[in-house]
Amino acid sequence: MKGKSYIGFVVREAADKKFVSGLEDLTVDNLPPGDVLVRVHYSSLNYKDMLSASGNRGVTKNYPHTPGIDAAGIVEQCTTADFKPGDEVIVTSYDLGMNTFGGLGEYIRVPASWVVKKPEGLSLRESMIFGTAGFTAALSILRLTDFGLGDNAEVLVTGSTGGVGSIAVSILSHCGYSVSALNGLNDEKEYLKGIGAKEVVEVQDFLDETGRPLLREKWDASVDSLGGNILTSAIRSVRADGAVTCCGNAVSHDISLTVYPFILRGVSLFGIDSQNCPMPRRVRAWNMMSKEWKFPWLETLASEINLNGVADEIARIRTGKNRGRIIVNLQG
Ligand SMILES: NC(=O)c1ccc[n+]([C@@H]2O[C@H](COP(=O)([O-])OP(=O)(O)OC[C@H]3O[C@@H](n4cnc5c(N)ncnc54)[C@H](OP(=O)(O)O)[C@@H]3O)[C@@H](O)[C@H]2O)c1
Repeated sequence: MKGKSYIGFVVREAADKKFVSGLEDLTVDNLPPGDVLVRVHYSSLNYKDMLSASGNRGVTKNYPHTPGIDAAGIVEQCTTADFKPGDEVIVTSYDLGMNTFGGLGEYIRVPASWVVKKPEGLSLRESMIFGTAGFTAALSILRLTDFGLGDNAEVLVTGSTGGVGSIAVSILSHCGYSVSALNGLNDEKEYLKGIGAKEVVEVQDFLDETGRPLLREKWDASVDSLGGNILTSAIRSVRADGAVTCCGNAVSHDISLTVYPFILRGVSLFGIDSQNCPMPRRVRAWNMMSKEWKFPWLETLASEINLNGVADEIARIRTGKNRGRIIVNLQG
């Protein structure tokens, strides 16, 4: 394997401090040390990849860098007994694509403790249609179902045309919950109905900027990936003993809230961290996505590109104009 060359998407900081990107010839010798060398077949694009590709130092400290927090592929070498050449694996989270060269290159080398054996019920491609976005949606829904979400519960999903949101709408509706999808930046009512939303809620009818501590109770639970006043409106609109999951800050990382939803309605707020999720819960979520939560319209969420298309799609994510899941075929 020594000297093996491959193609990767590389982000560099130019002399004028701007960040530029393009495809480069790389070699596996420059990958970081690690137990498992994986030939990446599919990756996907997530919000965090846009941040990494844009020079966000909270995500990636050092450049040049290959982003890609998601990778699915085939093991070529493993120095531990955990995996053997030919195993199909999924690698997401931890430091992949942040400060460790990520899935937007044809090879990654990572610790064995980051690697999940691909469940039987998913192909490599399907695992990346879910990707980190789907994994995060699954963790959010696991929190809600473990909490005791009732069979006929009404659930609000925000950021619903995005990766986390689209998959949350899909899994919840596939499981029979009544899903309200917030129609945000993208006016995509038909799409949202097509992936199972029972109701599409207009953002202007939902957002409450009055500062009232409690709003009319409308939902039993909410899956939020936006933060800011969207999250606080959701928390204030959830019924007594309901729950809200919070995983993202696409709108804002600030929240301004009183304690009343918690002390007068008993609302619970669950934080979701996919990056450091413990392995047993990680495997449980992937198993759910490969079986009970594998909704029949999974393919319709995906647009496939190869490495040549990455820069354009990242620009779309930057403006919030992306829809569903972008998967990257590194062997096509
Ligand atoms: N905690 C974790 O482990 C974890 C894991 C994955 C993602 N996240 C976070 O979750 C959030 C969503 O991630 P994603 O991968 O689903 O992103 P994405 O695919 O880019 O979707 C983001 C969606 O947010 C909505 N949006 C509303 N206002 C926006 C704005 N001002 N800028 C950008 N988007 C806006 C848009 O959908 P609508 O038009 O439908 O509203 C957009 O499609 C991000 O903050 C990400 O960092 C966290």
